[in-house]
Amino acid sequence: MPTLLKKEILDQGDIPTHIAIIMDGNGRWAKARNLPRVAGHGEGINSVREIVRACGEIGVSYLTLYTFSSENWQRPRTEVSAIMKLLLGTIKKEIKNLHKNGVKLSSIGNLEELPKDSREGILNGIEMTRNNNGLNLILALSYGGRQELLMAIRRIADKIQSGEMEKDQISEEKLVNELYTTNVPDPDLLIRTGGEHRLSNFLLWQSAYSELYLSDIFWPDFRENELITAILDYQARQRRFGKTGEQIS
Ligand code: IPE
Ligand code: IPE
Ligand code: MG
Repeated sequence: MPTLLKKEILDQGDIPTHIAIIMDGNGRWAKARNLPRVAGHGEGINSVREIVRACGEIGVSYLTLYTFSSENWQRPRTEVSAIMKLLLGTIKKEIKNLHKNGVKLSSIGNLEELPKDSREGILNGIEMTRNNNGLNLILALSYGGRQELLMAIRRIADKIQSGEMEKDQISEEKLVNELYTTNVPDPDLLIRTGGEHRLSNFLLWQSAYSELYLSDIFWPDFRENELITAILDYQARQRRFGKTGEQIS
């Protein structure tokens, strides 16, 4: 289906407020071409650029990209440092254009674990774009859902210990207040590329009622048309949140 026609269809349906993507398959994309794994990460950046632009145009409010997981530190040191370099280089190269397009950059995860230059690059980008009100682009960096939940639990325990909060006051809302994603609505649509059927420690709390879209396409090949296909698929679903279909329609 041509892109333009798809966009017209999209305009008639419900656009997900928040799309979260597990960008997987860079290494296998490269391997299939006899290229080193980092070449896949490099090409993946072109998908990031295109998907960010498309989300802005379609009117998505939040886009969270799983860029580097807490577990990815276990990869070979050479791959980790190549990814960190790519990250910094990309931010430096793209931030002006993102800013011009009104994108507001933020991050979730433990930025402290990133190399200093990469961390500073991200923080500069966040600072530069903080007053923008276009697409909220959230990079999950050194992010793990379990680690995030532990952090939240520790913060609540601290508040109880200091007398700032009573045990009986612990609620879903109070827990959400301590997550990286406070003030961000839960993902409506969670996409995983690269053919695997798992969450890999991504947004464990937040994805409780996300619609899942699993694509076999490797991330470097996942472009605007694939995104639109995913949104069209999402639009054809009925989100019941535990109720019956009759209650919803
Ligand atoms: C996702 O692609 C990128 C990161 C995890 C940083 P992979 O590097 O996991 O690619 P595959 O899964 O090995 O193909
Ligand atoms: C998930 O992909 C992390 C990112 C996409 C950043 P992985 O490739 O690390 O996931 P597993 O290890 O196959 O579950
Ligand atoms: Mg992978």
